[in-house]
Amino acid sequence: MTNMESTGAAGQSAEAAMQVSTLVPDTALEQRRQSERRFALAPDLVTVRNLKMHFPVTEGALFNKVAAHVRAVDGISFTIRKGETLGLVGESGCGKTTTGRCILRLDHPTGGEILFDGKNLVDLDDKSMRALRRKIQVIFQDPYSSLNPRMKIGEIISEPMKVHRTEPNKAARDARVMELLNMCGLDPRFADRYPHEMSGGQRQRVGIARALSVRPEFIICDEAISALDVSIQAQIINLLEDLRDQFGLTYLFIAHDLSVVRHLCHRVAVMYLGKIVELAECDELYGNPLHPYTQALLAAVPVPDPDMEKVRSYRIVKGEVPSPMNPPSGCVFHPRCPLAVENCAKTVPEFRELRPGHWVACSVI
Ligand SMILES: Nc1ncnc2c1ncn2[C@@H]1O[C@H](COP(=O)(O)OP(=O)(O)OP(=O)(O)O)[C@@H](O)[C@H]1O
Ligand code: SF4
Ligand SMILES: [Mg+2]
Repeated sequence: MTNMESTGAAGQSAEAAMQVSTLVPDTALEQRRQSERRFALAPDLVTVRNLKMHFPVTEGALFNKVAAHVRAVDGISFTIRKGETLGLVGESGCGKTTTGRCILRLDHPTGGEILFDGKNLVDLDDKSMRALRRKIQVIFQDPYSSLNPRMKIGEIISEPMKVHRTEPNKAARDARVMELLNMCGLDPRFADRYPHEMSGGQRQRVGIARALSVRPEFIICDEAISALDVSIQAQIINLLEDLRDQFGLTYLFIAHDLSVVRHLCHRVAVMYLGKIVELAECDELYGNPLHPYTQALLAAVPVPDPDMEKVRSYRIVKGEVPSPMNPPSGCVFHPRCPLAVENCAKTVPEFRELRPGHWVACSVI
C-alpha cells in the first residue's frame, strides 16, 4: 500500500472511523464485547518487552563483513492476555512477520524479552523450547504453499501429533484427524485427498486443523486470510472466533490493513518501520485514532457505499516507507507525517498512555 491516503485531521479521521464501522455487523461487535468482558481480568499469556531483531547485512567475497543492519523490529513492547486476540497491523515490511518469528523462536532476537506463561523464550535452551513449541502454533498466509502437495490431508494434520508425540498410536491420531476436520467445517472424507483437490478456503481450514491438532494455547495467524476471497475471509474469521471461544485460545492476528482485524481482535497494535506507534482496544482505536499513521490506515479502508466514498476527503501521505536499514532520525514517521514539526526529526517520541489503555508514540498530539 504505497499510495496511502490520509485525512490528516482528527475530525476527518473520526469520519473515516465511522465509515469503517459500517462494515461491521452489530452482532459481531456485540459478541466481541462480551468476549472482551470475559478475558478482561485474565492473566498475561505473552509479554514482549523491548524486542529487537536487527538482521546483519554482509558484504565482501566471503560475505563475512557486516556492512549494516536491517532494523526489522526495533524495540517493541506489548502483552496478550489469555483468551485475547491482539491484532498487529501495518504496511508491508514493517516487521509483523519478524515479530511472529521471534515469538516462535524461528529468529533469535537481537535484544529484549519474550515471556510465555512467565518463561523467557529468548533464554530457553533448545530442549525446553521444543517442549513449549507444541503450545505455540502458527497459521500462514498462503494455504497453497504451506501444505505439502505430496501428502494427503490426513497425513498433514497428523504430522504435528507425531512430531510432538501427543497421540500415542495411529488409531488415536486418525480419530483426532476426523474430529479436527469436523471441527473446522470439512467433510472427514477430505482426509484421503491431496491439497490440490481443495479450494483456497478449504486449504486454510486444513491449516487451522493442523495448528489445532496438538492442542495449542497460543496461535500466531500471519496474514491467515489475506490470500482468500472476501466472502471466504469472513467464514475463516468466524471459524477462528468460534474455535477461540470454544478452546480458550489466544491469538496474535497479523494483517496488512485495519478492515479485517476489527471483527476478531480485542486490541490492535499498529506498526510502522519496526516500531509500534499506537495500541488500543478495538473500539477506541477505530473511534478515536490518535496517531497520524493510524488515521491514514483507517482512511485507506475501502467503503462499500459509493455515496459515502464520494464525500470522503483524502490527504495523501507522501513518499514511500523508508528502508529499515537506514531509518529516519527522531520519529521514524516524520518524513511522511502531515503533522510533523521541526523537533520530530530530532527526538524519538515516547510511547505514552494518552487515554486509559490507549498508547501512542507521538510527541505532538
Ligand atoms: N532474514 C532476514 N534478513 C534480512 N532482512 C530481513 C530478514 N527477514 C526480514 N527482513 C527484513 O525485515 C523487514 C521486516 O520484514 P517482515 O517480513 O517482518 O515484514 P512484514 O511486516 O511481515 O511485511 P509483509 O506485510 O510484506 O509480510 C523487511 O525490510 C524485510 O526485508
Ligand atoms: S512525533 Fe511528529 S512526526 Fe511523529 S507522528 Fe507525531 S507529529 Fe508526526
Ligand atoms: Mg509478513
